[in-house]
Amino acid sequence: MSDTPLKIPRHVAIIMDGNGRWAEARGLSRYEGHQAGTENLRRVIRAAADIGVQYLTVYAFSTENWGRPKDEVEGLMMLLETTIDNELEELIAEGVQIRHLGRLESMPKALARKVEHSIDATKENHRIVLNIAWNYGGRDEVVYAVQKIIADHIEPDQVTEQMISDHLFTGGIPDPDLVIRTSGEYRISNFMIWQSAYAEWYFTPTLWPDFDKHELEKAIAVYGMRERRFGKLSGGNADVANG
Ligand code: IPE
Ligand code: IPE
Ligand code: MG
Repeated sequence: MSDTPLKIPRHVAIIMDGNGRWAEARGLSRYEGHQAGTENLRRVIRAAADIGVQYLTVYAFSTENWGRPKDEVEGLMMLLETTIDNELEELIAEGVQIRHLGRLESMPKALARKVEHSIDATKENHRIVLNIAWNYGGRDEVVYAVQKIIADHIEPDQVTEQMISDHLFTGGIPDPDLVIRTSGEYRISNFMIWQSAYAEWYFTPTLWPDFDKHELEKAIAVYGMRERRFGKLSGGNADVANG
């Protein structure tokens, strides 16, 4: 073992993929797969907080996922609602601050209200920020940012990279250092297309319901061994952009 302390990514983002295949392998319904995935998320939030991750972003429902069969979409919406109902108190007690990435206005009204309530009820928490990407699409987020920039009457020469970052759903949140995708797929699937420009990627064949604390630690250990150069050369100034 080396004496070098483990480099902990400040912001970890996860594409939680593979619930359906996990269920199928067990002869269960896709809904049961999503339930198992939700259970796993509870564990991973705690594990990430224990490790010292400050921001955890989870991709849970994409703008493309509306194209799934109606009962699967309804099941997923219901699952988010019941999860907020059942978990909010504990999340508050554990110091989790909830944020939402995506458009609330096109979500079922009762669910949108619950999401707003969970954001409000946890806004003073600072142990870990949990960004829930729900009804989220990276391209839709860019459209949203452009709409806001135009609505704010910002002149073309005032548009900078920082300004665009500030107008995304993630405004004020640092870019992800590490993006994890489970289930053996090698795609970005419209996730954080702007923010992950210089993220480190970690792919694992493990299906999301099986991605446990040990797997998270492994991903973080692999991250810790990477050299982030940000286009520069190895050595002294390599980590400048990492703050
Ligand atoms: C990820 O699991 C959860 C969502 C996209 C909502 P999937 O439902 O995509 O699982 P697979 O990819 O079919 O196994
Ligand atoms: C990405 O998974 C979206 C979420 C995990 C929420 P999908 O299963 O929807 O993505 P594709 O179809 O493999 O690109
Ligand atoms: Mg999938």
